[in-house]
Amino acid sequence: MKCEHRLSPAARCLSRVSLGCASVGRWVMQPSSDDMVTAASPPQPHRSEIPRHVAVIMDGNGRWAAQRGLPRLAGHQHGTDNIRRITTAAAQIGIKYLTLWAFSTDNWRRPREEIDGILHILAGVIERETEELDRQGAQLRHIGSLEGLDPQLQAAVHAAIDRTRCNNRLILTLAFNYGGRQELLAAIKSLVASGIPAAAVDEDTLQAHLFTRDLPDPDLIVRTSGEHRISNFLLWQCAYSELFFRPTLWPDFGPDDLFEAVREFGRRERRFGGVPNHEPTSPLVNR
Ligand code: FPP
Repeated sequence: MKCEHRLSPAARCLSRVSLGCASVGRWVMQPSSDDMVTAASPPQPHRSEIPRHVAVIMDGNGRWAAQRGLPRLAGHQHGTDNIRRITTAAAQIGIKYLTLWAFSTDNWRRPREEIDGILHILAGVIERETEELDRQGAQLRHIGSLEGLDPQLQAAVHAAIDRTRCNNRLILTLAFNYGGRQELLAAIKSLVASGIPAAAVDEDTLQAHLFTRDLPDPDLIVRTSGEHRISNFLLWQCAYSELFFRPTLWPDFGPDDLFEAVREFGRRERRFGGVPNHEPTSPLVNR
């Protein structure tokens, strides 16, 4: 089914209000940058410095809970509440793609009770937030594998994705049961199964078999909680991403931290292996 370019009446309405609209709903989407109103704006970098795609390794829920003498699941619950806050802030400043890593393929090593709790939180988020996401014109996507999850939960995720599939104000991708190596393996298997000759495989063909085939590479990857690792996240896609590490634990990572990351991104010079103000030379093999 094709998508008409539609905007729900509510999202259309929101596109006319100022940044004050952040308080209107839980997943409030800011209009595209072109019609952004500057009054009451958060500290903003110049438009061209806004990363198109920001991906976040939301780390530190457990330590946040431990510091307060709470069970780890309380940290995950607060971390989940923070998703709402950061999604709203990202949309406010015109970030178009936001990818959040909610569960790694390696997180299955955790105690059963914690995993069940996270799955329960995911089911709750989908149930509570899909309508609002849709109302605000956000599109939900998933990368990773849902295989083996409770069929009801799988159906709920698919239904949320389907319901929001025509929205384009913000593309919110949830990386759940996601691992970069697993993604690469799946892409290679899919390539081999397609029967494509080895000589015809190039970066674009591999890219077309990744979970992220419809997403631009992340311009900026943020990791909270003071760890300085990529930990199997978007391994192919992070080749030229700018990395921003923050000591703040994820539940405490607020809009100001995100804005600081974006400002820092604006100060970086991205060269993609080249030299500034210099036309690329064609590769030796093509000469
Ligand atoms: C871990 O902090 C963070 C995660 C396992 C991913 C983020 C999870 C959430 C925000 C909650 C679940 C969200 C959804 C939408 C299901 P940690 O447990 O590794 O913290 P620690 O390093 O301090 O132990």
